[in-house]
Amino acid sequence: MTRDLFPNPGAARTAGRLAPPSHEPLEFHRRLPAYSPTPLVDAPGLARRLGLRRLWVKNESARLGLPSFKLLGASWAVYRALSCHLGESLEPWADIGDLATKLAPHAPLALAAATDGNHGRAVAHMARWLGLEARIFVPSGTSPARIAAIESEGATCTVVDGTYDEAVARSAKEQSERCLVISDTSWPGYETVPGWVIEGYSTIYWEVDEALEALGEPGPDLVVVPIGVGALAAACARHYRRADLDRRPALLGVEPLAAACVLASMRAGRIVSVPGPHNSIMVGLNCDTPSLVAWPDMAAIDLFVAVEDERARQAMRELAGAGMVAGETGASALAGLEEVLTGPDSATWRQRLGLTPEASALVVCTEGATDEASYRSIVGKDPTQVRP
Ligand SMILES: Cc1ncc(COP(=O)(O)O)c(C=O)c1O
Repeated sequence: MTRDLFPNPGAARTAGRLAPPSHEPLEFHRRLPAYSPTPLVDAPGLARRLGLRRLWVKNESARLGLPSFKLLGASWAVYRALSCHLGESLEPWADIGDLATKLAPHAPLALAAATDGNHGRAVAHMARWLGLEARIFVPSGTSPARIAAIESEGATCTVVDGTYDEAVARSAKEQSERCLVISDTSWPGYETVPGWVIEGYSTIYWEVDEALEALGEPGPDLVVVPIGVGALAAACARHYRRADLDRRPALLGVEPLAAACVLASMRAGRIVSVPGPHNSIMVGLNCDTPSLVAWPDMAAIDLFVAVEDERARQAMRELAGAGMVAGETGASALAGLEEVLTGPDSATWRQRLGLTPEASALVVCTEGATDEASYRSIVGKDPTQVRP
């Protein structure tokens, strides 16, 4: 299988130098409807296959009522953007109904976002909770299932004739007194909101810490993160490179070969774009350009790997075998881990990452079956037939 790997020579220099994560987003998420920590699944069969003592899968296939982790970033960013825009704190509030009531006198207000699926749906979901309008922009080629999912949240969904970056540029034009742009990627002059998106994702890693502590397990030796524009990777790096952490895991970033914009940028030593169209089945990772605010944090990632779609298909089937429903993008972290630990020169890469047979690894499965027809064709069964 073709792949690309880039060991990052500067990674060691970042320890303790990134923005430390706060617990505020976690406290915020705990007040949202149906909040509960997502499961941290012990996958012994997969761990054995990969030559690890343990493989933990943080399963984000059902998060706050949606099939991906994305609402964590979108909800916190919307909340912070609204209070900034209105120039007042929205505290105190106990539940989402209280928040909607506080916002009602400011109507009409809208939210706009570009997406390849999950982020836009999350922004639309938050808008629905708060009684706001949502305008979502998607690149051409977005599947009808993803568009339907966005529209099911009551949003208008516009297909832009172009790539993800072009959809981002189109959504940015919506900014006005009555419409806030909630982008998960950033560019010069638009950095605050995407910074909040990164903060929102910190909840995933605080929950992992709590779950491992409850099990009496040490932190992981390797953390694997899928990368689109890099917001999740930035949250991951901030968490595992914070100054007060004495056990620092190695970090592995995963992208599709067809859209490895962060790997290309790391290799170039500066942000570069990888021109589209990008057509990986890992659609959440089909991005042209790394996010400006995530870029300095991603310097902490030790190794980048870009994988073929076939790896993602294989990882979806394996996760199904372990009782977890993972979509194409959701399975990408496991796909990258498998490429590194079972592909060519695996002994060398294992050593470089400091992995012994006693090591444990953490992968985040970032989405469930966001396109069910595609899931059925790859895994050979319906998501409802996958049993834990
Ligand atoms: C399911 C899923 N996983 C991972 C990612 C990558 O996140 P980021 O763009 O923050 O790198 C995305 C982005 O949309 C996604 O939808």
